[in-house]
Amino acid sequence: MGLHHWHQSMETGFPTIDEYHRKLAEYLGDLETAIAESNRPFIGAMIDQIIDHLEATFPYEEELMRHHQYPMCEDHLRVHESFLNRLRNYAERHGNGEDISRKLTYDLKIWLTNHIQLQDGDYASYITNKKRSRGPFGWLRIFRG
Ligand SMILES: [Fe+2]
Ligand SMILES: [Fe+2]
Repeated sequence: MGLHHWHQSMETGFPTIDEYHRKLAEYLGDLETAIAESNRPFIGAMIDQIIDHLEATFPYEEELMRHHQYPMCEDHLRVHESFLNRLRNYAERHGNGEDISRKLTYDLKIWLTNHIQLQDGDYASYITNKKRSRGPFGWLRIFRG
């Protein structure tokens, strides 16, 4: 348990998304605990948990990008899908008895620092700047959607 993988610089400023990301960082901590204990069922359960979490939370992020017509939306969606496929592949290999723990934790750490910090950070600042450029009463239009 714990949030030692979380850093403030990963915040997008969108509370729901930040909460989803913090949860992922927490799962990574749990996964490391499972690995440290060499607890294979626990490792398998954490991989499944992470996949479920991403499947459940990616759509929210994707909908936000679509809604604000983020220009890199399609590329971002592809990155999500290929990461999920990568994780599903790890789950399968783990199920077949392979030790994927080092590669998996490495990928997840890279995901937190590269995808969340840079790619999610990019749409977040795009949307934030778009809102700001609407002027002092922009919030009215945001409120109306
Ligand atoms: Fe994200
Ligand atoms: Fe993302």
